[in-house]
Order: sequence, then structure tokens, then C-alpha cells
Amino acid sequence: MSELKNLPHVALGVYPTPLYKLENISAKYGRNIWVKRDDLCGVALGGNKVRKLEYLLAEAKAEGCDTVFTTGGAQSNHAMLTAACAARLGMKCILILKKRGVTEHLGNLILDDIYGADVRFMDTDSYGDIYDEMDRIDTELAKEGHKCFHIPVGGSTPLGAVGYTNCVREIAEQLHGAEVGHIVSATGSGGTTAGLLLGARMYLPHAKVTGMGVDTDPFEDIVPDLAAGAAELLGTPLDRVPGDFRMVYHVGQGYAIPNPEDTPYIEELARLEGILLDPVYTGKAWSGMLKLLQNGDFDGDGDIVFVHTGGAAALFAMELA
Ligand SMILES: Cc1ncc(COP(=O)(O)O)c(C=O)c1O
Repeated sequence: MSELKNLPHVALGVYPTPLYKLENISAKYGRNIWVKRDDLCGVALGGNKVRKLEYLLAEAKAEGCDTVFTTGGAQSNHAMLTAACAARLGMKCILILKKRGVTEHLGNLILDDIYGADVRFMDTDSYGDIYDEMDRIDTELAKEGHKCFHIPVGGSTPLGAVGYTNCVREIAEQLHGAEVGHIVSATGSGGTTAGLLLGARMYLPHAKVTGMGVDTDPFEDIVPDLAAGAAELLGTPLDRVPGDFRMVYHVGQGYAIPNPEDTPYIEELARLEGILLDPVYTGKAWSGMLKLLQNGDFDGDGDIVFVHTGGAAALFAMELA
């Protein structure tokens, strides 16, 4: 797509990531299920944020910024990958993380340090408080001649979502004739699912997108809004068709709380296919997807592609339930 080439872009991951059919799982569940291994994208322990950061950090560079702010929970995969990618581009990274969840020096907090991020905690439940703090620090740093780029939680802006259209282009190129009926991913802030929705409309017009919500925000609205914003940036219409997108919530006790129902599904995928899922995002999305399948909730007989969005560091910060 020539439009994509008009946006600033910096290569950070190793793409295309592998796409292959899960033979043992497909045989067990009686449906062809493929996995798109964005957990193997070549930065840190992999993950979905790298596709977004290829556009967001390119924009930061184009604006002449030398410092990047972002936020998330204490164990944010997005924050860790932002630290990794910013370091690679020679930018300073300041992470203002919610003092919530696992705040001990475990999992992603270890990796944040390895990547040289300036990690600060705020004891708040509100990202509004954190964005205010970013503005305050930005003003201080500007006086010293620095220019800061602000990435909101999850990198879920229309520009970040643009990165995920590339994932669907790759899937379309890698399928070798298989008919994809459904693309499924975890939804935590919405940008990944939004990019998949727009990408599906651009490259796989028969595929429907299912977002598996791992938090309770109103993603039915957030995802199409982000997809529309991304389409505008690309100068392409978002040609929606009825039923092309649905949200299904599989949150359990709450965001980032491992769900006992998911553990057998996480262990099954590890043991049948060798693939690790995390209990915060991919484990919930995967288990929620298989429950839908068992209830006959994936219409038609087209294949299902599960987008593995990473998150493995959580396995070193918390136990499965
Ligand atoms: C491993 C993993 N999967 C999925 C998601 C959800 O992606 P999005 O925030 O774009 O909805 C995240 C977000 O942080 C994540 O870290």
C-alpha cells in the first residue's frame, strides 16, 4: 500500500513474524486454528507494541524529540517495549507507571532497568494524573533544551493502530490459499484490535475480527473509533460490513488478575504446541477464544487466526491462578 509509505516509519522488529497452523490444537478442537507469532518479533521477549512503536517513535524522531514518555501498570509490556525501542533509537525513556499490581523488582520491571529506562511510580488509579505529571516533567525538561514525545497507555492512538494493519497484510501473504474466517486478539487498550479491523478491511475482506477484552473499557466504541482514525491517516476508507467486528469480554476477577479458568488452556497450549501464554493478556484471550469455539460462536467454517501478542515477562512476575 503506497499510503503506508507516506507515514514516517522506523524498522524495529523482525517481520514478517511466523504464521502457522497449530496441528495438535486444530485436531483437538475440530477447527483449523493458526497462530501469528508476534511474540517472536525480535525485540526483548517480543509483543504487539513493537508494530505500533515503529510508527510512534518514527513520528517522535521526525518531530526532533530526544525523550519519550509512556505509562501503564507496573508490569506493563508496552512500557518495557517502549524502553527497549527508545534505547535502540538513542532516545531517553521515562516510564511513569501506576503503582498497581506487581511492583516488586520482577518481570518487566527488571527488563525496564536493563533497557535503561527512568522508571517512576505514581500511586494513582487515574491515567489523567499521570498525563498531568508527564506535562509537568516535560516543562522542566524543555527548559534544559529537551523535546519530549508523549505516548499514551498502550500506544493506542490512530497512528499506533496503523502498525497493526501490517500484521494483516502479512497474514494475507502467508496463508497460501487457506480461507480465514476469523482473526482473534487480546484487547487491552484497543489499538491492536483496531489495526486488525482496518487491516482486515484492506487485505482480508472476508475475515471477521474478534477482540477478547481483558479489561472492562467500552472497546465496542474505542476500537472502531481508533480504526477510523487510522484509516484517515492512511487516506483509505474504513469500509465496514455488518458483523466484521465484535468484542467479547474475558476479564475474570479483573485486569491483570490471573483467572483459574484459563490455566488448563494455558498449560494445554504449552504442552501440545510448545507455546507460552501469559495470564494477563494472551492466556485470557486464548482461553476465551476456545470457549467461544466450544459454544459454536465462530460462524462459518473458515480458519481462525490467533494473534499472539507477547507478554511472556508476566510469567516471571506472577503465578498462574
Ligand atoms: C501482551 C499483550 N497483549 C495484548 C495487549 C493488548 O493490546 P492493545 O493495548 O493494543 O489492546 C497488550 C497491551 O498491553 C499486551 O501487552
